[in-house]
Amino acid sequence: MANTITPPRVVDQKLFVDGKWTDSASCETFETLNPATGDTICQVAAGDKADVDIAVKAARRAFESKAWTRMSAAERGRLLYKLGDLVEAHGQELAALESLDNGKPIRDAQYVDIPMTANVFRYYGGWADKIHGKVIPMAGPFHAHTRHEPVGVVGQIIPWNFPALMVSWKWGPALAAGCTVVLKPAEQTSLTALRLAELTVEAGFPEGVVNVVTGMGPTAGAAIAEHMDVDKVAFTGSTEVGQSIMKAAADSNLKRVSLELGGKSPNIIFADADIKKAANFAYAALFFNMGQCCCAGSRLLVEDRVYDEVMEIITAKAKKQVLGDPFEESTTQGPQVSKAQMDRILGYIETGKNEGACCVTGGRKLDRAGYFVEPTVFDGVKADMKIAQEEIFGPVLTVLKFSDIDEAIQLANDTIYGLAAGIWTQNINTANRVAASVKAGSVWVNCYNAFDPTITFGGFKMSGFGRELGEYALANYTEVKAVVTALGK
Ligand code: NAI
Ligand code: MG
Repeated sequence: MANTITPPRVVDQKLFVDGKWTDSASCETFETLNPATGDTICQVAAGDKADVDIAVKAARRAFESKAWTRMSAAERGRLLYKLGDLVEAHGQELAALESLDNGKPIRDAQYVDIPMTANVFRYYGGWADKIHGKVIPMAGPFHAHTRHEPVGVVGQIIPWNFPALMVSWKWGPALAAGCTVVLKPAEQTSLTALRLAELTVEAGFPEGVVNVVTGMGPTAGAAIAEHMDVDKVAFTGSTEVGQSIMKAAADSNLKRVSLELGGKSPNIIFADADIKKAANFAYAALFFNMGQCCCAGSRLLVEDRVYDEVMEIITAKAKKQVLGDPFEESTTQGPQVSKAQMDRILGYIETGKNEGACCVTGGRKLDRAGYFVEPTVFDGVKADMKIAQEEIFGPVLTVLKFSDIDEAIQLANDTIYGLAAGIWTQNINTANRVAASVKAGSVWVNCYNAFDPTITFGGFKMSGFGRELGEYALANYTEVKAVVTALGK
C-alpha cells in the first residue's frame, strides 16, 4: 500500500511551561529546518537561563503540589499508560512531524520510532506502583525499611537522532518514579517533544509536572546543568558536552548525573557465522537512521577468511540504496540532520582517504538541496586511524580484518567507548567468551539493535554511565532512604 502520509504544516512554536504555551523571556526565536531541503519549517522560541529558571520553579511547585504528591502511584502509572495510548492514536501525525524535522524516512518514523515511543511510556506506566524499598533484618530491637523516593526536579537534555523516542526514555522512568521534569530537546528537532508535551495535558498530568524549554545547548542546556534547584540531570549526546554537564553539576549543587554518550561499537563477524545474514545486519547496524545512532556498529570486524564475501554483500547493498525525499515510500536513506553534521561527516571521509584507507563505495555529498551523504564504506582500515577511533555519526562504515578470537577481542576493546557490540558466530563458546570480554553495555549475539523497553541500555567507559530502559533506569530517578525505628517494649 502506498504511504499516504504527507509533510504537515507547522505553526511557530512556543515554550511549554507550567501547562501553558509562552514566548521566551527574550522573545527571541530560532528556525527549525527541513534537512531534506534546507527550507525553514517554522520558528521556535529560544529559551535561555530566565526561561529555564521559570520552568524549574514550575516543576518544583508541581513536585510539591498536592495534585502530584497525593496522586497514587497507580494513578501516575495510568497517566503514563494513557500517554502511550495517545502517542499511538496520533501515530501518523507524530511520524510526519518527526520525519519532516529530522529527515528520517517516514516508514522508520511510522513503524519504529513512534510505536516504540508509545511502548516505552506504557512500559513505565506499569512500573509506577512497583517501585518500592525493602524491609531489612537489622540487628537489635529495630524495624528497618528503605523507601525509594523520587529524586525531585529533573533536567533532561536530549539529542536529535531519535527526538520523540528520547523523550520517552527520559520521561517514562522519571514520571513513573514521581519526579517532575524540565526537558530541553535538541535545537535541530524540537517539534515532536512539544507535541508530546501537549499530549501530557490530554493524558491528565497536572500542570508543571512536564515542562519543555526549547533552545540552544550553551544557553538553555547549560542553564539546566548549572541550576541550583535541579536535583538531577540526564543527558544524551556528545562526550564533550557530557563532560561539560558533569563539570557544571559538580560546580553547582552536585546534582545527580546520568550520561548516555556516543560510541564506536564493534560488530564482529566470525567465519563460522551465517555470513549472508551477518553481512545484511552489519549493513543495517551502521546505516540505519543515516548512521546517526549512538550504538551504531561503526567498526565492523571481520575474520579474514570471510572478509571478501562480507565486503561484497555490504558494498552491493550500499550501491542499491535510494536516497531522497523522506516522505517517498521508495526512499531508504534520508538526509543527515543538519549541514553541520553533513560537513563533519564529509570531513571524516576526507580524513579516511588521507590516512590511507580505501573508500570502496560512496564518499560524496549528493548534488541536490538537503544534507545527503552517499552510503560510504572504507576498506583497509587500521585500528589507529581516526576513522576507526572517532565517532563519525553518519553513513560511513569502517571495516577491519582479524585472524583469531584474541585479536577480535583486542580490536573490539581498542577504543575509549563502550556502548554496544555485536557478535556473529554459530559457536556458543566463541559467543560466550567474546560477550564476557567486550567492554560494552549492550551485547547482541547473532542480532543487532534488538531494542525493547524491558532491556536496559547504557555505556561503559567514555560512553557514559547510568542505565536507561528496563528496571535499571528507575535508579536514575530515585533516592534510597533508610528508615530505622526503635521497637518499643
Ligand atoms: P551535542 O552533544 O552538542 O547535542 C546534544 C544535546 O546537548 C542538544 O540538546 C544540545 O542542544 C545540548 N547541548 C549542547 N551543548 C550544551 C551545553 N554546553 N550544555 C548543555 N547542553 C548542551 O551534539 P551535536 O553537536 O548535535 O552532535 C555532535 C556529535 O555528538 C555527533 O556527531 C555525534 O558524534 C555525537 N552525538 C551523539 C548522540 C548520541 O546519541 N549519543 C546524539 C547526538 C550527537
Ligand atoms: Mg553541539
